[in-house]
Amino acid sequence: MNTQRVFFLVWIINVCSSQPTGNTGFFWQVTDFHYDANYSTKGNPWKMCHDSSEGSYSNSIYGNYQCDSPWRLILSATAAMKRLHPDPDFILWTGDSVPHVPDSTLDLQKNAQNIGNISLLLRSVFPNTSIYPVLGNHDEYPADAYPPAPGSDYYTTILHQAHFDKLLTNDTAAQFQTGGYYSTLSRPGLRVMGLNTNLLYSQNKLTGKSADPAQQFQWMTATLSDARKNNEKVILLSHVPPGLFEKYSGLMWFYNEFNTQYVRILQNFSDVITSQIYGHEHTDSYRILKDPKGAPIGVLFLAPAVTPWNSSLAGVGANNPSIRLYTYNRMDGTVLNYQQYYLNLASLIKGTANWTLEYDAKKDYNVGDLSPKSMLNLALSFNSDNSVMFSKYLTYNSVSQAVNPACDLDCKMVHICSITELERMNFDLCKTVNPTKTTKMPHPSPPTHHRRPVSKTYIYIIVGLAAVVFILFIVVGIICIRRRRHFIPYRFSRFSNSLGRGPIN
Ligand SMILES: *[C@@H]1O[C@H](CO)[C@@H](O)[C@H](O)[C@H]1NC(C)=O
Ligand SMILES: *[C@@H]1O[C@H](CO)[C@@H](O)[C@H](O)[C@H]1NC(C)=O
Ligand SMILES: *[C@@H]1O[C@H](CO)[C@@H](O)[C@H](O)[C@H]1NC(C)=O
Ligand SMILES: *[C@@H]1O[C@H](CO)[C@@H](O)[C@H](O)[C@H]1NC(C)=O
Ligand SMILES: *[C@@H]1O[C@H](CO)[C@@H](O)[C@H](O)[C@H]1NC(C)=O
Ligand SMILES: *[C@@H]1O[C@H](CO)[C@@H](O)[C@H](O)[C@H]1NC(C)=O
Ligand SMILES: *[C@@H]1O[C@H](CO)[C@@H](O)[C@H](O)[C@H]1NC(C)=O
Ligand SMILES: [Zn+2]
Repeated sequence: MNTQRVFFLVWIINVCSSQPTGNTGFFWQVTDFHYDANYSTKGNPWKMCHDSSEGSYSNSIYGNYQCDSPWRLILSATAAMKRLHPDPDFILWTGDSVPHVPDSTLDLQKNAQNIGNISLLLRSVFPNTSIYPVLGNHDEYPADAYPPAPGSDYYTTILHQAHFDKLLTNDTAAQFQTGGYYSTLSRPGLRVMGLNTNLLYSQNKLTGKSADPAQQFQWMTATLSDARKNNEKVILLSHVPPGLFEKYSGLMWFYNEFNTQYVRILQNFSDVITSQIYGHEHTDSYRILKDPKGAPIGVLFLAPAVTPWNSSLAGVGANNPSIRLYTYNRMDGTVLNYQQYYLNLASLIKGTANWTLEYDAKKDYNVGDLSPKSMLNLALSFNSDNSVMFSKYLTYNSVSQAVNPACDLDCKMVHICSITELERMNFDLCKTVNPTKTTKMPHPSPPTHHRRPVSKTYIYIIVGLAAVVFILFIVVGIICIRRRRHFIPYRFSRFSNSLGRGPIN
């Protein structure tokens, strides 16, 4: 591309992005509150801040990195939303309101109460705003155990006892009772689609053998087809994202077959789904959806949690409490930018909760827009040595809570490859190909058939290929041996509270 064309493009982009504000709207995303009604400022942080019988701890009233959210933190987060942007077009609330404590200390009523406390709070802070909730894996009792059959009583309990009926309309409430999913128009031509991807979560032992848990795939395809027919665009929200965890190599959230099926639907409807919003990871990241040829066709935004809770999965760590404000195009639902706000728990000024801007996506990542292409290029740029953007990303990943200052090449490749590849085979390939840096692919541009002088290049290519094959061979070998060793390891259950919890509570 010559420079004139570049300038022309930049000019077009500038003109387009400075359109009158009528087309530009705002919405909040808030996620993973994990409200712990038993949080105590005197409680032992290594026991979730509950046990105040031994010694005298003095945890902040706003929380502790080892523990889930006290009510004061939740009040402060919602008050910050109200102060920073009191009149958004809508609020996306992406689930998980129950603490990370063993199932034995909870029950369905307690879960519904925790969730209901937050439904009522959001409704009272934003009495006239559309609030679109979805359920998290922890919100079910026992945790993760969403049943495969449609029409479970659980959804009715959530509607009434957890007060989702104060957020959903009659229309969406009726849909919600089938499987915790629904869709509705937020304005003419723009549909919001709330999913229950907890049905696809690999920690859910009830749905693994089901072809279509709670008939959600069928509903999703039909709803997206109708949307296409009616010229609508769709904003999709859900709790658990597809793809792999960027902080834990090889950990995929969905069952593999569900992941494939889900990604195919996203690919088939990339002309209809213009933005995707998820929670669950507690970290700040994103994913690129590609078409079968590898061209970027979508971005999945993964927002960090309100709870600061230090993960029990080795090396993952804690995060600062956070809330996210998106700017979007009201006409087509595309995300134009977002501002990430946070509360730095480690430096509370005189004990007051000072929620401030952590970063502005466009400005701090220095991208012209948040389009699939720009966001893919951003991730690919992480690959260069000493990438400034990668260090920024890594800081934001834990909401500026220094978790893992030494992210080595392998760690970096897990981040990059989870961002750029939603499917396991492509992820594995990305991880094995990239570290050698033999292939600095200018990404999915088709192979150009330039005439090259027959030279040493061929020898290099052949040697390179041989090396790649050799590495693949070793990796496959290691994977096979590992597979045999740990089948459903405990550490994979870190976002579940029923299995393998440490000495918590
Ligand atoms: C809080 O503690 C009480 C008393 O130990 C217990 O019954 C209850 O289940 C706990 N609630 C939550 C939400 O953990
Ligand atoms: C949460 O809801 C329960 C049941 O309605 C209520 O007793 C409790 O006071 C609520 N807690 C807060 C902090 O609102
Ligand atoms: C919400 O709407 C009602 C009725 O239209 C109005 O009386 C009230 O002032 C509004 N509240 C806020 C906080 O905007
Ligand atoms: C919703 O349903 C209730 C009870 O069935 C009814 O009273 C109310 O008018 C309905 N609201 C709307 C907006 O349809
Ligand atoms: C995607 O679209 C293709 C072609 O229209 C179709 O054959 C396939 O069944 C669709 N897959 C899904 C998962 O929607
Ligand atoms: C989180 O837990 C790990 C392991 O127990 C510990 O090394 C780390 O310091 C904790 N992080 C914070 C912020 O407390
Ligand atoms: C909150 O933090 C910002 C930036 O860190 C600072 O400028 C501001 O003075 C602080 N406000 C209060 C009330 O402490
Ligand atoms: Zn969570």
